[in-house]
Amino acid sequence: MENRLIAEIQKLKKEKNAIILAHYYVNEELQALADYVGDSFYLAKVAKGTDADVVVFCGVSFMGESAKMLNPEKTVLMPDITADCPMAHMAQVEKIKELREKYEDLAVVCYINSTAELKSHSDVCVTSSNAVKIVKNLPNQNIFFIPDVNLGRFVAEQVPEKNVILNDGYCPIHKDITGTSIKELKKKHPEALVMAHPECKENVVKLADYVGSTADMIAFAKQSECKEFIVCTEEGVNYRLREDNPDKKFYFGGEYLCRDMKLNTLEKVLHVLKTGENEMKLPEELCEKAVAPLDRMLALAK
Ligand code: 13P
Ligand code: SF4
Repeated sequence: MENRLIAEIQKLKKEKNAIILAHYYVNEELQALADYVGDSFYLAKVAKGTDADVVVFCGVSFMGESAKMLNPEKTVLMPDITADCPMAHMAQVEKIKELREKYEDLAVVCYINSTAELKSHSDVCVTSSNAVKIVKNLPNQNIFFIPDVNLGRFVAEQVPEKNVILNDGYCPIHKDITGTSIKELKKKHPEALVMAHPECKENVVKLADYVGSTADMIAFAKQSECKEFIVCTEEGVNYRLREDNPDKKFYFGGEYLCRDMKLNTLEKVLHVLKTGENEMKLPEELCEKAVAPLDRMLALAK
């Protein structure tokens, strides 16, 4: 059954000059199928540079929106149009306006995990792999970091010379990762290195030997001489970690699954390729405003 679906998808992909992009949190069979798999930053760069006519994005809506904004003439198809990141909505335009009045030099730094509407009110986007570098190099002293409190706090710690104002958004999946569960794993596997995504809470990040994006953690585990790792992020990364490191062991403190990422399936990829349904569409005016901070990110992260 799976092989038949894959064969049909491959055939349609050729016919339609389509590519499949997948985030490390989607189901394994989609990561195996995709032309490009990566973290949010890598996928944004691929979306910007592709020659394909159609991009099928196995991820959540902010990723599809970004792909569409960076490449408005392309068709961007979402296998499940309801797959959405709850954190992407966790900031208020009113608060941005209020702080812009208070601080003359305010830079609104917007984590890419945000709606197009929030991006359109921001100065620059960042991802977990370039946030520290970009905030450090901004000329502004006052930064409002939206929507993620945890990535914002991590950036503030790395860039103490700036006034980073935090918002109160968070990722519900990373929020569930507890310091207690990581300490228990560490007791069982004392040799293991702890890797954490910066969306984790402060007490979890403090326990980590390495903090980075999904792609950064995957690269860290690959080059490390250590044979065991405790992983503090969504479990989808386990697929790449296992494929790249058959001789190493990876432990997770619980079942950390992003329900929205998991809405993507092979059947749905085939369906959208066949029908052209679930096309990502954005009002032109919103697109124009919201792409500016994304383009600035791509330029500053070089
Ligand atoms: P990265 O893959 O950029 O680390 O992002 C993690 C995430 O939560 C995406 O939704
Ligand atoms: Fe959003 Fe968290 Fe899911 Fe990433 S893992 S898409 S931040 S809810």
